[in-house]
Amino acid sequence: MSASNDKILIIGAGGQIGVELTENLSTIYGSSNVIASDLKVSPYLPNNPFEILDALDKNALFEIVKKHGITHVYHLAALLSATGEQNPMFAWKLNMESLFHVLDLAKEKHIKQIYWPSSIAVFGPTTPQINTPQYTVMEPSTIYGISKQAGERWCEWYFKKFGVDVRSIRYPGLIGWKSAPGGGTTDYAVHIFYEALKTGTYESFLSENTTLPMMCMEDAIRATLEIMHAPAEKIKIRSSYNLSGLSFSPKEIADEIRKHIPNFKMSYKPDFRQQIADSWPKSIDDSSARIDWGWKEKYNLEALVKAMLDNLKTKT
Ligand code: NAD
Ligand code: SER
Repeated sequence: MSASNDKILIIGAGGQIGVELTENLSTIYGSSNVIASDLKVSPYLPNNPFEILDALDKNALFEIVKKHGITHVYHLAALLSATGEQNPMFAWKLNMESLFHVLDLAKEKHIKQIYWPSSIAVFGPTTPQINTPQYTVMEPSTIYGISKQAGERWCEWYFKKFGVDVRSIRYPGLIGWKSAPGGGTTDYAVHIFYEALKTGTYESFLSENTTLPMMCMEDAIRATLEIMHAPAEKIKIRSSYNLSGLSFSPKEIADEIRKHIPNFKMSYKPDFRQQIADSWPKSIDDSSARIDWGWKEKYNLEALVKAMLDNLKTKT
Protein backbone atom coordinates (compact mmCIF):
# COMPACT_ATOMS: atom_id res chain seq x y z
CA MET A 1 0.00 0.00 0.00
CA SER A 2 2.77 2.45 0.90
CA ALA A 3 6.23 2.61 -0.66
CA SER A 4 9.17 2.92 1.73
CA ASN A 5 10.12 6.35 0.40
CA ASP A 6 6.61 7.83 0.64
CA LYS A 7 6.50 11.04 2.70
CA ILE A 8 3.20 12.66 3.52
CA LEU A 9 2.40 16.33 4.17
CA ILE A 10 -0.97 17.23 5.70
CA ILE A 11 -1.93 20.88 5.29
CA GLY A 12 -4.53 22.01 7.85
CA ALA A 13 -3.65 18.99 10.03
CA GLY A 14 -4.94 20.56 13.25
CA GLY A 15 -8.57 20.62 12.11
CA GLN A 16 -11.47 18.23 12.55
CA ILE A 17 -10.38 15.85 9.78
CA GLY A 18 -6.64 16.51 9.93
CA VAL A 19 -6.14 15.23 13.47
CA GLU A 20 -7.72 11.86 12.69
CA LEU A 21 -6.09 11.61 9.27
CA THR A 22 -2.68 12.29 10.80
CA GLU A 23 -3.21 9.44 13.27
CA ASN A 24 -4.38 7.01 10.59
CA LEU A 25 -1.69 7.89 8.06
CA SER A 26 0.95 7.50 10.79
CA THR A 27 -0.22 3.94 11.39
CA ILE A 28 0.31 3.16 7.71
CA TYR A 29 3.47 5.12 6.91
CA GLY A 30 5.08 5.58 10.36
CA SER A 31 4.88 8.84 12.36
CA SER A 32 8.23 10.15 11.13
CA ASN A 33 6.98 9.95 7.51
CA VAL A 34 3.81 11.97 8.14
CA ILE A 35 4.44 15.70 8.49
CA ALA A 36 1.58 17.65 10.07
CA SER A 37 1.28 21.35 9.26
CA ASP A 38 -1.09 24.15 10.18
CA LEU A 39 -1.15 27.85 11.06
CA LYS A 40 -0.55 26.90 14.69
CA VAL A 41 0.10 23.84 16.84
CA SER A 42 -3.04 21.91 17.82
CA PRO A 43 -3.32 20.20 21.22
CA TYR A 44 -5.22 17.34 19.54
CA LEU A 45 -2.43 16.37 17.14
CA PRO A 46 -0.34 13.24 17.78
CA ASN A 47 3.42 13.51 18.16
CA ASN A 48 4.37 13.78 14.47
CA PRO A 49 6.94 16.13 12.94
CA PHE A 50 5.13 19.48 12.72
CA GLU A 51 5.64 22.57 10.58
CA ILE A 52 3.95 25.94 10.92
CA LEU A 53 2.66 26.58 7.39
CA ASP A 54 0.30 29.13 5.86
CA ALA A 55 -1.15 27.34 2.81
CA LEU A 56 -1.21 30.69 1.00
CA ASP A 57 2.57 30.96 1.23
CA LYS A 58 3.70 29.13 -1.91
CA ASN A 59 7.42 29.52 -1.17
CA ALA A 60 7.12 28.20 2.38
CA LEU A 61 5.11 25.24 1.07
CA PHE A 62 7.80 24.49 -1.52
CA GLU A 63 10.55 24.69 1.12
CA ILE A 64 8.74 22.20 3.37
CA VAL A 65 8.15 19.83 0.45
CA LYS A 66 11.86 19.93 -0.41
CA LYS A 67 13.08 19.75 3.21
CA HIS A 68 11.11 16.57 3.95
CA GLY A 69 11.15 15.01 0.47
CA ILE A 70 7.33 15.04 0.40
CA THR A 71 5.68 12.73 -2.14
CA HIS A 72 1.97 13.00 -1.17
CA VAL A 73 -0.02 16.05 0.00
CA TYR A 74 -3.36 15.94 1.80
CA HIS A 75 -4.60 19.50 1.46
CA LEU A 76 -7.32 20.17 4.05
CA ALA A 77 -6.96 23.89 4.82
CA ALA A 78 -10.11 25.84 3.94
CA LEU A 79 -12.78 28.15 5.29
CA LEU A 80 -15.97 26.09 5.59
CA SER A 81 -19.54 27.05 4.70
CA ALA A 82 -20.60 29.15 7.70
CA THR A 83 -17.32 31.00 8.27
CA GLY A 84 -16.94 31.40 4.50
CA GLU A 85 -20.21 33.35 4.29
CA GLN A 86 -18.90 35.71 6.97
CA ASN A 87 -15.65 36.35 5.13
CA PRO A 88 -16.42 35.60 1.47
CA MET A 89 -13.46 37.21 -0.28
CA PHE A 90 -10.96 35.59 2.06
CA ALA A 91 -12.74 32.22 1.76
CA TRP A 92 -12.40 32.43 -2.02
CA LYS A 93 -8.74 33.43 -1.78
CA LEU A 94 -7.76 30.72 0.71
CA ASN A 95 -9.78 27.91 -0.84
CA MET A 96 -8.65 28.60 -4.40
CA GLU A 97 -5.08 29.91 -4.17
CA SER A 98 -3.92 27.21 -1.76
CA LEU A 99 -5.30 24.55 -4.09
CA PHE A 100 -3.38 26.05 -7.03
CA HIS A 101 -0.14 25.97 -5.00
CA VAL A 102 -0.57 22.25 -4.36
CA LEU A 103 -1.71 21.40 -7.89
CA ASP A 104 1.32 23.26 -9.29
CA LEU A 105 3.68 21.25 -7.08
CA ALA A 106 2.37 18.07 -8.74
CA LYS A 107 2.35 19.60 -12.21
CA GLU A 108 6.03 20.49 -11.74
CA LYS A 109 6.70 16.89 -10.53
CA HIS A 110 7.79 17.86 -7.01
CA ILE A 111 5.10 15.58 -5.54
CA LYS A 112 3.36 12.45 -6.86
CA GLN A 113 -0.18 12.56 -5.47
CA ILE A 114 -2.73 14.97 -3.97
CA TYR A 115 -5.81 14.51 -1.84
CA TRP A 116 -8.18 17.49 -1.76
CA PRO A 117 -11.67 17.28 -0.27
CA SER A 118 -14.76 18.71 -1.88
CA SER A 119 -18.19 18.86 -0.25
CA ILE A 120 -21.94 18.42 -0.65
CA ALA A 121 -21.85 22.24 -0.72
CA VAL A 122 -21.09 22.04 -4.46
CA PHE A 123 -24.84 21.43 -4.87
CA GLY A 124 -27.43 24.16 -4.62
CA PRO A 125 -31.14 24.89 -4.42
CA THR A 126 -31.78 23.79 -8.03
CA THR A 127 -30.14 20.37 -7.49
CA PRO A 128 -32.44 17.35 -6.97
CA GLN A 129 -32.30 16.88 -3.18
CA ILE A 130 -33.09 13.18 -2.83
CA ASN A 131 -30.40 10.72 -3.93
CA THR A 132 -28.52 13.57 -5.55
CA PRO A 133 -26.73 12.06 -8.57
CA GLN A 134 -23.00 12.32 -9.28
CA TYR A 135 -23.74 14.38 -12.39
CA THR A 136 -26.58 16.87 -11.98
CA VAL A 137 -27.47 20.56 -11.81
CA MET A 138 -24.88 22.36 -9.66
CA GLU A 139 -25.60 25.96 -8.72
CA PRO A 140 -24.04 26.37 -5.25
CA SER A 141 -25.25 29.40 -3.32
CA THR A 142 -22.41 29.77 -0.79
CA ILE A 143 -18.91 31.07 -1.48
CA TYR A 144 -17.63 27.84 0.07
CA GLY A 145 -19.69 25.78 -2.39
CA ILE A 146 -18.65 27.95 -5.31
CA SER A 147 -14.98 27.54 -4.34
CA LYS A 148 -15.35 23.76 -4.01
CA GLN A 149 -17.12 23.48 -7.36
CA ALA A 150 -14.45 25.60 -9.05
CA GLY A 151 -11.78 23.54 -7.27
CA GLU A 152 -13.29 20.33 -8.67
CA ARG A 153 -13.14 21.73 -12.19
CA TRP A 154 -9.49 22.74 -11.71
CA CYS A 155 -8.57 19.32 -10.31
CA GLU A 156 -10.06 17.59 -13.33
CA TRP A 157 -8.33 20.06 -15.64
CA TYR A 158 -4.91 19.51 -14.05
CA PHE A 159 -5.45 15.76 -14.36
CA LYS A 160 -6.43 15.91 -18.03
CA LYS A 161 -3.89 18.53 -19.04
CA PHE A 162 -0.84 17.54 -16.97
CA GLY A 163 -1.62 14.06 -15.61
CA VAL A 164 -1.73 15.33 -12.02
CA ASP A 165 -2.84 12.44 -9.78
CA VAL A 166 -5.37 14.34 -7.69
CA ARG A 167 -8.20 12.49 -5.93
CA SER A 168 -11.22 13.91 -4.19
CA ILE A 169 -14.42 13.12 -2.30
CA ARG A 170 -17.49 15.30 -1.75
CA TYR A 171 -17.71 14.73 2.00
CA PRO A 172 -21.09 15.03 3.67
CA GLY A 173 -21.20 16.53 7.20
CA LEU A 174 -18.58 14.74 9.28
CA ILE A 175 -19.05 13.68 12.87
CA GLY A 176 -16.10 12.71 15.04
CA TRP A 177 -15.11 12.92 18.69
CA LYS A 178 -11.34 13.51 18.56
CA SER A 179 -11.28 17.20 17.63
CA ALA A 180 -13.63 20.16 17.31
CA PRO A 181 -15.27 21.15 14.02
CA GLY A 182 -14.32 24.44 12.40
CA GLY A 183 -17.25 26.50 11.13
CA GLY A 184 -19.56 24.29 9.07
CA THR A 185 -23.34 24.17 8.70
CA THR A 186 -23.39 20.51 9.76
CA ASP A 187 -21.46 21.18 12.99
CA TYR A 188 -24.62 21.07 15.13
CA ALA A 189 -24.42 17.28 14.79
CA VAL A 190 -21.08 17.34 16.65
CA HIS A 191 -21.85 20.07 19.25
CA ILE A 192 -25.06 18.27 20.23
CA PHE A 193 -23.08 15.40 21.80
CA TYR A 194 -20.89 17.66 23.95
CA GLU A 195 -23.94 19.55 25.24
CA ALA A 196 -26.03 16.41 25.73
CA LEU A 197 -23.33 15.02 28.05
CA LYS A 198 -22.52 18.32 29.76
CA THR A 199 -25.91 20.01 30.25
CA GLY A 200 -28.53 17.57 28.94
CA THR A 201 -29.85 20.26 26.60
CA TYR A 202 -29.03 21.62 23.14
CA GLU A 203 -30.32 24.51 21.05
CA SER A 204 -30.04 23.57 17.38
CA PHE A 205 -29.26 26.27 14.82
CA LEU A 206 -31.07 24.17 12.19
CA SER A 207 -34.82 23.44 12.31
CA GLU A 208 -36.02 20.06 13.51
CA ASN A 209 -36.77 18.45 10.14
CA THR A 210 -33.67 19.66 8.24
CA THR A 211 -32.35 16.39 6.86
CA LEU A 212 -28.73 16.43 5.64
CA PRO A 213 -26.23 13.80 4.47
CA MET A 214 -23.76 12.98 7.26
CA MET A 215 -20.96 10.51 7.94
CA CYS A 216 -19.05 9.12 10.90
CA MET A 217 -15.45 10.38 10.84
CA GLU A 218 -14.12 6.83 10.95
CA ASP A 219 -15.94 6.05 7.69
CA ALA A 220 -14.72 9.32 6.11
CA ILE A 221 -11.09 8.61 6.98
CA ARG A 222 -11.38 5.06 5.65
CA ALA A 223 -12.90 6.39 2.40
CA THR A 224 -10.05 8.89 2.11
CA LEU A 225 -7.42 6.20 2.48
CA GLU A 226 -9.27 3.83 0.15
CA ILE A 227 -9.52 6.36 -2.68
CA MET A 228 -5.87 7.36 -2.24
CA HIS A 229 -4.64 3.77 -2.26
CA ALA A 230 -6.84 2.56 -5.13
CA PRO A 231 -5.05 1.75 -8.42
CA ALA A 232 -5.10 4.83 -10.69
CA GLU A 233 -7.20 3.10 -13.34
CA LYS A 234 -10.04 2.67 -10.83
CA ILE A 235 -10.32 6.43 -10.27
CA LYS A 236 -12.57 7.34 -13.16
CA ILE A 237 -13.76 10.68 -11.73
CA ARG A 238 -11.07 13.32 -11.30
CA SER A 239 -13.36 16.13 -10.20
CA SER A 240 -14.78 14.62 -6.99
CA TYR A 241 -16.81 11.57 -5.96
CA ASN A 242 -20.23 11.69 -4.29
CA LEU A 243 -20.02 9.80 -0.99
CA SER A 244 -22.85 8.72 1.25
CA GLY A 245 -22.97 7.51 4.83
CA LEU A 246 -26.33 8.25 6.41
CA SER A 247 -28.92 11.06 6.49
CA PHE A 248 -30.77 12.45 9.49
CA SER A 249 -32.46 15.58 10.84
CA PRO A 250 -31.84 17.34 14.19
CA LYS A 251 -35.03 15.73 15.52
CA GLU A 252 -33.90 12.25 14.50
CA ILE A 253 -30.47 12.56 16.11
CA ALA A 254 -32.04 14.00 19.28
CA ASP A 255 -34.44 11.02 19.43
CA GLU A 256 -31.50 8.62 19.09
CA ILE A 257 -29.52 10.44 21.82
CA ARG A 258 -32.59 10.16 24.09
CA LYS A 259 -32.26 6.37 23.96
CA HIS A 260 -29.03 6.87 25.98
CA ILE A 261 -29.88 10.10 27.85
CA PRO A 262 -33.68 9.93 28.36
CA ASN A 263 -34.04 13.48 29.75
CA PHE A 264 -32.13 15.13 26.90
CA LYS A 265 -33.95 18.28 25.78
CA MET A 266 -33.65 19.81 22.32
CA SER A 267 -34.82 23.26 21.24
CA TYR A 268 -34.59 24.92 17.84
CA LYS A 269 -33.45 28.42 16.91
CA PRO A 270 -32.54 28.45 13.21
CA ASP A 271 -30.04 31.13 12.15
CA PHE A 272 -28.32 32.04 8.84
CA ARG A 273 -27.07 28.46 8.51
CA GLN A 274 -30.66 27.26 7.93
CA GLN A 275 -30.67 28.79 4.46
CA ILE A 276 -27.39 27.08 3.62
CA ALA A 277 -28.70 23.72 4.84
CA ASP A 278 -31.94 24.17 2.87
CA SER A 279 -29.90 24.52 -0.33
CA TRP A 280 -28.06 21.21 0.16
CA PRO A 281 -29.08 17.61 -0.68
CA LYS A 282 -30.91 15.42 1.81
CA SER A 283 -29.35 12.20 0.53
CA ILE A 284 -26.61 11.30 -1.93
CA ASP A 285 -26.30 8.71 -4.69
CA ASP A 286 -22.73 7.46 -4.39
CA SER A 287 -22.95 4.49 -6.76
CA SER A 288 -19.88 5.68 -8.73
CA ALA A 289 -17.67 5.45 -5.61
CA ARG A 290 -19.15 2.02 -4.82
CA ILE A 291 -18.57 0.70 -8.34
CA ASP A 292 -15.21 2.35 -9.09
CA TRP A 293 -13.26 1.78 -5.86
CA GLY A 294 -15.53 -0.35 -3.69
CA TRP A 295 -16.86 2.20 -1.17
CA LYS A 296 -19.21 0.99 1.56
CA GLU A 297 -20.10 2.80 4.80
CA LYS A 298 -20.15 1.04 8.19
CA TYR A 299 -22.00 3.44 10.49
CA ASN A 300 -25.77 3.94 10.68
CA LEU A 301 -27.38 6.46 13.07
CA GLU A 302 -27.63 4.00 15.96
CA ALA A 303 -23.93 3.03 15.74
CA LEU A 304 -22.82 6.64 15.25
CA VAL A 305 -24.65 7.97 18.31
CA LYS A 306 -23.42 5.13 20.50
CA ALA A 307 -19.80 5.60 19.35
CA MET A 308 -19.91 9.39 19.90
CA LEU A 309 -21.39 9.12 23.41
CA ASP A 310 -19.12 6.25 24.49
CA ASN A 311 -15.97 7.97 23.26
CA LEU A 312 -16.83 11.44 24.55
CA LYS A 313 -17.69 10.02 27.98
CA THR A 314 -14.21 8.54 28.31
CA LYS A 315 -12.57 11.67 26.85
CA THR A 316 -14.18 14.14 29.29
P1 NAD B 1 -11.35 22.58 10.05
O1 NAD B 1 -11.81 23.99 9.98
O2 NAD B 1 -11.65 21.80 11.28
O3 NAD B 1 -9.79 22.50 9.81
C1 NAD B 1 -9.13 23.27 8.85
C2 NAD B 1 -7.73 23.48 9.33
O4 NAD B 1 -7.08 24.30 8.35
C3 NAD B 1 -7.65 24.23 10.67
O5 NAD B 1 -6.83 23.53 11.58
C4 NAD B 1 -7.06 25.58 10.30
O6 NAD B 1 -6.20 26.12 11.30
C5 NAD B 1 -6.29 25.24 9.04
N1 NAD B 1 -6.05 26.41 8.22
C6 NAD B 1 -6.89 27.46 7.97
N2 NAD B 1 -6.29 28.35 7.19
C7 NAD B 1 -5.06 27.87 6.92
C8 NAD B 1 -3.97 28.34 6.17
N3 NAD B 1 -3.99 29.53 5.54
N4 NAD B 1 -2.85 27.59 6.12
C9 NAD B 1 -2.79 26.39 6.76
N5 NAD B 1 -3.78 25.90 7.50
C10 NAD B 1 -4.90 26.64 7.58
O7 NAD B 1 -11.93 21.85 8.76
P2 NAD B 1 -12.17 20.29 8.54
O8 NAD B 1 -13.55 19.99 8.95
O9 NAD B 1 -11.04 19.51 9.09
O10 NAD B 1 -12.15 20.27 6.95
C11 NAD B 1 -10.98 19.95 6.22
C12 NAD B 1 -11.33 19.96 4.75
O11 NAD B 1 -12.42 19.04 4.50
C13 NAD B 1 -11.79 21.30 4.21
O12 NAD B 1 -11.30 21.47 2.91
C14 NAD B 1 -13.29 21.17 4.17
O13 NAD B 1 -13.84 21.98 3.18
C15 NAD B 1 -13.48 19.72 3.84
N6 NAD B 1 -14.78 19.22 4.27
C16 NAD B 1 -15.08 19.09 5.60
C17 NAD B 1 -16.34 18.62 5.97
C18 NAD B 1 -16.72 18.46 7.42
O14 NAD B 1 -17.88 18.13 7.71
N7 NAD B 1 -15.81 18.64 8.37
C19 NAD B 1 -17.28 18.30 4.98
C20 NAD B 1 -16.95 18.49 3.64
C21 NAD B 1 -15.67 18.92 3.29
N1 SER C 1 -19.64 20.08 6.80
C1 SER C 1 -19.32 21.09 5.86
C2 SER C 1 -19.96 22.37 6.19
O1 SER C 1 -20.99 22.34 6.83
C3 SER C 1 -19.74 20.65 4.49
O2 SER C 1 -18.71 20.86 3.63
O3 SER C 1 -19.46 23.39 5.81
